[in-house]
This record gives sequence, C-alpha cells and structure tokens, in this order.
Amino acid sequence: MSETIAKKTIFSGIQPTGTFTLGNYIGAIRNWGPLQDEYNCIYSIVDMHAITVRQEPAKLRQNTLEAYALLLACGIDPKRSTAFIQSHNPNHAELSWILSCSTQFGELSRMTQFKVKSEKHSDDVNAGLFTYPVLMAADILAYNADLVPIGADQKQHLELARNIAGRFNQKYGEFFTLPEPYIPKTGARVMSLQDPTKKMSKSDENPNACIFILDDKDTIIRKFKRAVTDSEAEVCYREGKDGINNLMSIYSAVTGKSFDEITAEFAGKGYGDFKIAVGEAVADHLEPVRTGFAKLIEDKAYLKECYTAGAEAAFKMTRKTLSKVYRKVGFVDAR
Ligand code: TYM
Repeated sequence: MSETIAKKTIFSGIQPTGTFTLGNYIGAIRNWGPLQDEYNCIYSIVDMHAITVRQEPAKLRQNTLEAYALLLACGIDPKRSTAFIQSHNPNHAELSWILSCSTQFGELSRMTQFKVKSEKHSDDVNAGLFTYPVLMAADILAYNADLVPIGADQKQHLELARNIAGRFNQKYGEFFTLPEPYIPKTGARVMSLQDPTKKMSKSDENPNACIFILDDKDTIIRKFKRAVTDSEAEVCYREGKDGINNLMSIYSAVTGKSFDEITAEFAGKGYGDFKIAVGEAVADHLEPVRTGFAKLIEDKAYLKECYTAGAEAAFKMTRKTLSKVYRKVGFVDAR
C-alpha cells in the first residue's frame, strides 16, 4: 500500500514598497523558488503591512502590481505555488484580531522594527505600526505554516509569532503549528554598500548604498565600485572588515564560491578588481529577473489571472482555519 506523506507548508511575504533590493533577493526571495516542489508554498505581496507607514495610494497600487510581477520574475511559478496579494484574502486581518487578544502590549513594545520605524516616522506612530507583528503572525498561522523563509531581520517577528501561537494553544487547546524560521547561511543580512554596519534598505537616503534588482548592469557596477571597504588590501573574511565581508557574502551568494575560494581568486589583486567582479557577477545573476520582469509587467491580464487565482486558493485554505478558531474561542456558528 502506498503511503502519501503530506507536504510541509511554507509561507513568506514581502512588502510592496518599491523595487526589491539585493538584500530582499539574497536574504529571502531567491530561496523561495527552489522550495516549490518539495513544499506547499504560499507567497504574498503584503500590501496591508505597507500602509503602516504613509503611502501614496496610486503609487502603492502600482508598486503592488510591480512587486507581484517581480515575484514571478524571481522564479515563483503561480502554478506550483499560491502567489497572491494580501488584501485579497480578508482572513489574514480577521485572524489578526483574534491573535491580538493573545498578544501582550509589552512584547509588541520590544520589537526592534517598531522602535526603528516609530523613530523614523515620529509624526505617525499609528496603532497598525505597533500591531504589525500580529498581522504577520496571522499571515503565517492562517496556513499553519511549518517553515518561514526570511532574512535575519525578521527573526524577532517570527519568534513572536511562535509565542502567540503557543499562547493560543495553551488557552484553547493545541491547534496552531509553531513555525520555524528558514534563514540562509550566507546572505541573511546583506549590508549597506555605504555603511556596512547597517542593513541594506530601500529607504536609505544614499542612492549608492542599495542595489535594486532592476538596476541596469552599469548602475550595479558603479555602485559596487563606490562601496565602502577598509584601508587594507586583502580580500579575506575577518572580523572588523565589514565592507569586504559584505562583498564576499554577496559574491559567494551569487556565484556559490566559498570564502576560501574567493580569497584565493583575488590573492595579489586589489579591492578595485574585486569590486568590479562582484558587480559583474551580481548584474549577470540578475539579468534574467530584469528581462522576465519587463515581459510580465506588460501583461496585466496575465498578472490579474494569476493573483486572482492565488487569492481564491489562499482564501479557501484559510477559511477553514478561521472557522475552527472561531469555534475554539467560543463564537456562535454563523450558520
Ligand atoms: P520586507 O518586505 O522588509 O523584506 C522581505 C524579505 O527580505 C528580507 N530582507 C533582507 N534579507 C537580507 N538582507 C537584507 N538587507 C534584507 N532586507 C530585507 C527580509 O528579512 C524579508 O524576509 N514583515 C516582513 C514581511 C512579512 C512576512 C510575513 C514575512 C509580512 N508577513 C509573513 C514572512 C512571513 C517584511 O517587512 O519584510
């Protein structure tokens, strides 16, 4: 008798706040595609998270469509994965309310991202920014995801999601799966090219600090040429060499070479050669994403077909979870 083993479930999301960065790509998205056959994968453009900071509505709409096209261009196949836009599945927001009643004020106050963003947007420290991690927990728990592929900066939010799930289970009986983070060994934290002690971020004011995955080859090489390094001349991974360590991690992530191989490759050569090599490797690696995106963004009807089907599938998967949660907390059946 043949036995079918149920595939494990993966959930991850990305905010549509502009073109994805090399950090988003290496730390998260590029790891999503290869998981599609082995797992039941669900990927979302999380537009509801994006409005926790002020957005221009027309721009958000355009960014969301572009982010969806980019998701597909990065190798997410809407036939093999569920790929959808978060606001198209209202079950996330509904579950978020229930989970917020199992989340403590104190734990939300300790979230690094909340502290950083409330300082940065001090004129708009809204409740959504504060409860953002609860919605993120709902995204994950609605699907009872086993694994969540993310960069290192989202680890704290994932730990909170586990705590919320655990608390709910304690109150109402075992129900939610405790999700595990899936963080890549190399590239989990891609740093700014201008200040390698800070993470690469699309909101950096210095345009040379961040590589966008749709930047053309010349721009990518130019930004790498200007990357801040140190006053030594040896390409090797060592504490204190933040700039070079970052470039080595990026080069390793796109070429698959180990740090020892990279050190050997550039022995006796200066940082100048190394920076150009990193720029070229990154640009070549991203070329298929750029061409794929250019085609996809022209085909709005196809994109719509994909995200509508994705939302339908996502809704179906989560409605059952939500009904069970409603029963567990003691709500009267609607029908
Ligand atoms: P977001 O949109 O800021 O980033 C998307 C993914 O990219 C990773 N990332 C990085 N990785 C390495 N180096 C960097 N410099 C870098 N910058 C960003 C992030 O870790 C993330 O994995 N809250 C999430 C979105 C979200 C989500 C979810 C993720 C909402 N719901 C549920 C997983 C599961 C966020 O703002 O990611």
